[in-house]
Amino acid sequence: MSETRPPKVAVIGAGTMGSGIAQACAVRGLNVTLFDTQAEALQRGLKGMDASLARIVRKGGLTEAAKRAALGRVKATADLSGIGDADVVIEAVFEDLTVKREVWGRVAEVAEEGALLASNTSSLPITEIAAGVGRPERFCGLHFFNPVPVLPLVEVVRAQRTSEETVERAKTFVERIGKTPILCDDKPGFIVNRLLIPYLSDAVFALSEGVGSAEDIDTAMKLGANMPLGPLALIDLVGLDVALAAAESLHREFQDPKFRVPPLLRQLVRAGKLGRKSGEGFYRYEETA
Ligand SMILES: NC(=O)c1ccc[n+]([C@@H]2O[C@H](COP(=O)([O-])OP(=O)(O)OC[C@H]3O[C@@H](n4cnc5c(N)ncnc54)[C@H](O)[C@@H]3O)[C@@H](O)[C@H]2O)c1
Repeated sequence: MSETRPPKVAVIGAGTMGSGIAQACAVRGLNVTLFDTQAEALQRGLKGMDASLARIVRKGGLTEAAKRAALGRVKATADLSGIGDADVVIEAVFEDLTVKREVWGRVAEVAEEGALLASNTSSLPITEIAAGVGRPERFCGLHFFNPVPVLPLVEVVRAQRTSEETVERAKTFVERIGKTPILCDDKPGFIVNRLLIPYLSDAVFALSEGVGSAEDIDTAMKLGANMPLGPLALIDLVGLDVALAAAESLHREFQDPKFRVPPLLRQLVRAGKLGRKSGEGFYRYEETA
């Protein structure tokens, strides 16, 4: 990646995260090719970006002209050969190792030899994804947080064979798009989820053990620990199914009881109570998000 010209970015997968990452790059002046196999996903991704940027304009964070310019930098395509000139390739497809490895097999064939390659996985080992790519020294994790345009952190994940040069390039890239990189090892949950998920699980245990009501548990952590959001309200926002999958993955990987999964969380997911997106989780919501 040349330091003198802005890096060209390719984002693979135009869902929640892929479109957020594309937006974050485009706002900072980078040209982005956004690839997805599904035409509807590309349309949804572009629409989501337009709406998100419009919100930022309304809040005074961007001019209308800057919004238009950012959208103009994103090229949506269902043709993978369009990513061939990218300096940085970030994959954000379904959280499924088989899907990711299949995608990376094809991406590696068209991506530039020297490109920085990164996966946005939350729970799969980067080392395992990188193993099929053929140039594991150029591969790392770039773990963005949802919503990407709002949250400034990116975990740069160093896999077994990631080179120091790749780590440095990844950090420089993250800073280039106005985010804050932190470096972590390729261990389950990286840093944020390793600390956050047991905390969220404990809040569910506290609720099911009758320590306090959902409202009181959330108020306790907001007013007593200065958290912006209570843990149960946060699970509702993230999605109970997403929190459950993360908790199960940490428990499976570490085999440590401190990561045990609260049965109540599982029961609520089975009952279709997924949080804001389904209209009910630990709280009820008027409109589904
Ligand atoms: N949602 C979150 O809060 C969050 C946070 C951090 C990281 N992540 C990670 O980001 C990744 C994507 O998550 P998401 O929430 O954006 O998912 P999503 O379901 O919103 O989007 C996934 C996209 O990948 C596309 N896709 C699937 N197979 C593909 C293929 N073979 N080629 C190209 N595109 C393909 C789908 O069409 C879809 O548009 C996952 O690895 C997830 O773990 C998610």
